[in-house]
This record gives sequence, structure tokens and C-alpha cells, in this order.
Amino acid sequence: MLQYTERKKSDNTICSYTAFSHRKEAQTRVTVMEEKIVINGGNPLRGSVSISGFKNAALPIIVATVLTGDVCVLENIPAIRDVEKALEILEAMGASVRMIGRTTVEIDTANVEYGTSPAALVSKLRGSTYLIGAELGRFGKAHVGWPGGCDIGNRPIDQHIKAFEALGATVSTDNGFIDVTAPEGLKGNSIYFDTTSVGATANSILAAVLAEGVTVIENPAKEPHIVDLANFLNTCGASITGAGTDVIKIKGVNKLHGCTYSIIPDMIEAGTFMIAAVATGGRVRVDGVIPKHMDCLSAKLEEMGATVEEIDDSLIVSCLERPEKTNVKTLPYPGFPTDLQPQMATLLCLANGVSHVTETVFENRFKYVDELQKMGAKVRVDGKTAIIEGVDQLSGADLKAIDLRAGAAMVIAGLAASGTSSIYNISSIERGYDNIVEKLRALGADIKKTYVAPAEQAAIS
Ligand code: EPZ
Repeated sequence: MLQYTERKKSDNTICSYTAFSHRKEAQTRVTVMEEKIVINGGNPLRGSVSISGFKNAALPIIVATVLTGDVCVLENIPAIRDVEKALEILEAMGASVRMIGRTTVEIDTANVEYGTSPAALVSKLRGSTYLIGAELGRFGKAHVGWPGGCDIGNRPIDQHIKAFEALGATVSTDNGFIDVTAPEGLKGNSIYFDTTSVGATANSILAAVLAEGVTVIENPAKEPHIVDLANFLNTCGASITGAGTDVIKIKGVNKLHGCTYSIIPDMIEAGTFMIAAVATGGRVRVDGVIPKHMDCLSAKLEEMGATVEEIDDSLIVSCLERPEKTNVKTLPYPGFPTDLQPQMATLLCLANGVSHVTETVFENRFKYVDELQKMGAKVRVDGKTAIIEGVDQLSGADLKAIDLRAGAAMVIAGLAASGTSSIYNISSIERGYDNIVEKLRALGADIKKTYVAPAEQAAIS
């Protein structure tokens, strides 16, 4: 006989099935239960949703606090697992971290020590790459385990290494660690990126702000989160100009000090809700956004027949008719964001006509297509392009969240489909979306989280 018991233990729910053997003694097998998202689709999303702080701005800025050796207060931090992990890493390195409410954190990095980031945690997120630039900038050397991140391509760091070497450092990548040394100190220099890289641009800024002399970065990433990182560092006393343009100039300074800084809103979360509004034939106001950051998506949605109305720091998105087909090509900012590609492709599965989605940023970001096909989507991948023939209706199914943004796309598919969808591996979604189930339920979605029984878990693994 299995008896299900559940007890809350700190922030984990340890649930246990107690099996009573024939000898009447209890054997307890403690299993940390997976959760799944269950959606009964078909409800149009209606209402307003407040957008959280931007994961991809919060991560480099949290790590950049290491450069100050001082106290920083970061506001509008998203309450998501990747941020929790980044803060855990800093604590393990000697920082003191104090949450002030749900979305403000105070970080004192005075006692942070070089080379002490836990490799097991570092391997869980791509944002760990920023530890290299921050350690190098502060200590003149870095010792960091290999970073993780979504499995959407091979995720090299050759451009990061190119930047560090241009500043006079030597890099080795043996035994699963990245070691960077600069015995003569870091010297400002020109850096020209062969490929536009958010991570490499951010890391070169982190390494250069305390270097001797001037660094000029050409062909940098121009994403809003690069601008946010530069603004944060300038608030700490750095001298960075040109972030968000084709040339970034950094004059090295001797020291940085702590500050209070508010993270920009998450353009990818906002875009996810905007696409969900169109996919469900609803009307949603996304609040607390920077409309300029959404321009490319807004234009695409209007091309498809949706209306996007801008009012101060809100966008109202509605689509009462079936959306029309369109073509999308992902590009570095200000082009169409690769992080909205799975969500947009899902919407196009319901559009009138045949659409093409071309992924130019990552080599392997269409793995979620198999999941959509389970729902009746007519989509096939030919090289870098998905060819999508819109259908009238998707049908609910058991789906797997393959990675963060693919998982968000499965949620959109479930919301728009008829019938019930269960989405598994939802921890990958919770890495980057703050309270997504609660936010969608408040917009009228029939959605909930529930536990996955071991037998069910075994079946889907
Ligand atoms: C950041 O990843 C984001 N992650 C990704 O978001 C986002 O998709 C990506 O930027 C592009 O916008 C974080 O900010 C934590 P890149 P990053 O370096 O920095 C190639 C999400 O869903 N490249 O801009 O790793 C690389 O292979 C995640 O929130 C090199 O060739 O991305 C890719 O093809 C997923 N050499 C392209 O550049 C390098 O040294 C863009 O990568 C570095 C990158």
C-alpha cells in the first residue's frame, strides 16, 4: 500500500510515499517530487500583467557587483531560479547576500575570494561566464568552472577568450575549468568581435572597466541588457560610453563603489505574454515595459493582424481575428530576438497560411518542434528554417519543456489548444519566468501546477 504524505521543508517540498511492507514495518522512500503544469486550453487571455525584471540583465549585473568590493542594492530583480543560483554562487565565494522583500537584494562583495565559485552550481547556468570577467577585472586572474545554459547550440567562448587576450591576459581551458591570468595587469586595447555575442560583450566590459587605459569594443552586442550593465557600472563609477551602439569605449578607472540600481524590465517575458495574448485571441496589457525594446515583435504582431497600442510603459495587445502568416528571421538586437523564436513559431502554427521561421543565432533551437507535432501542428525543419503551415486548432497533449524558451512555447501551445495539456520538466521554465502560472491564471487561463506521481514520472522519463 502506498500512502502519500507531504511536508514542507524550507523551500523544498519533500513528498514521500510510505510503503508498508508485509512485515508491517514502514519503509520510507523520500522522493523530491517533480511538478507539471496542467492547462485546459481555449480561454482567451484578458487583463493586465506586470512584467518582472530582466533575467539576462540581472545575471551580469549581479556578478558585476564583485568588481566593486562594496555594498550594492539591486531592485526589480526577478524571483527566478537562475537568479537564486547566481546569488548562491556569490555567497559561496564570500559575498553577503540579503533579500529585501521579493525583488530587491543587497549584496556585499568585500570578502569575495578569487577562484571560489562552486563548479557544480556554475555548470547550471550560462550567466556563470560573467564570473570570469568579474574575477579578472577585480583580481587580475580568474578560475571558473565550465558554464552551463540551454542546449540550443554548442555555446563556445572563443570570443570571450579573444577579448581577455586582447587585454593582455593568458587563458587556459583545461580540466573543465577556465583559468585566466594577467601577471602584468590588464591593459586597455581594441577588441573586434568576429560574431556578435551578448556574453562576450558583457565579459569584455567587466574585464576592461578597471584595466589601465582605454578599451574600444567593435561589433559588440547592442541588446538592452548590455546597456543596462553599462549603466549599472557607470553608476558604480565606471567610464563606459557607446553601449547599445556599434562601438563601446571604456576608460579604465582605479576603483568602483557600490550603488543602488534598478534592473530593466524583461523584454522576453513581455514578448512571451504578448504572443500568448494573440495565440489565445485575447486582449492583454503588459505593464512596466520599455516599449522601444519590443519594437521588432510589436511590428511582427501587427503584420499578422494584431493591434499593439502603446500607453506610457504599457503595451495593449489584442487579436480578435485569426492571425495571418508571416516570416521571421532571428537576429541580434534590434532584430527579432532568438529568445522569442519558439514562442513565435508556436503562434504561427495557428496562423492563416504558410510561415517561415529562420534561426540565425543558434545552431539547434528547433528541438521543440516534435512536441508541437504531437498537438497536430504542421511544421517541419529544413536546415535553419522551420516551415509552418497554420492549422485551425491544436489539440492538448503531454508535452516536455525542452529548455527555457521552448518550455514557454509549450505553455502558449497549451493555452491556445483545445483540451488538456500537461507540461513536464517545468523547472526549465521556472529558471527564467517569475510566477508564470499565477500571472496566466490572473489573465483567465485555466492553468495549475501539480505533482507528478513517481509512476507517471517514470513513464515520461
Ligand atoms: C545570451 O546567451 C542569453 N543568455 C541567451 O538567452 C540569448 O539567447 C543569447 O544571449 C542571444 O541573445 C544570457 O544572457 C544568460 P551569445 P549568450 O554569446 O551570451 C556564438 C535565454 O533564453 N558565440 O550572444 O551565450 C554562439 O554560439 C537564453 O534567456 C560564439 O561563436 O549568447 C551563438 O551562436 C538562451 N563564440 C551566438 O554567438 C563566443 O565566444 C550568440 O551567442 C560566444 C558566442
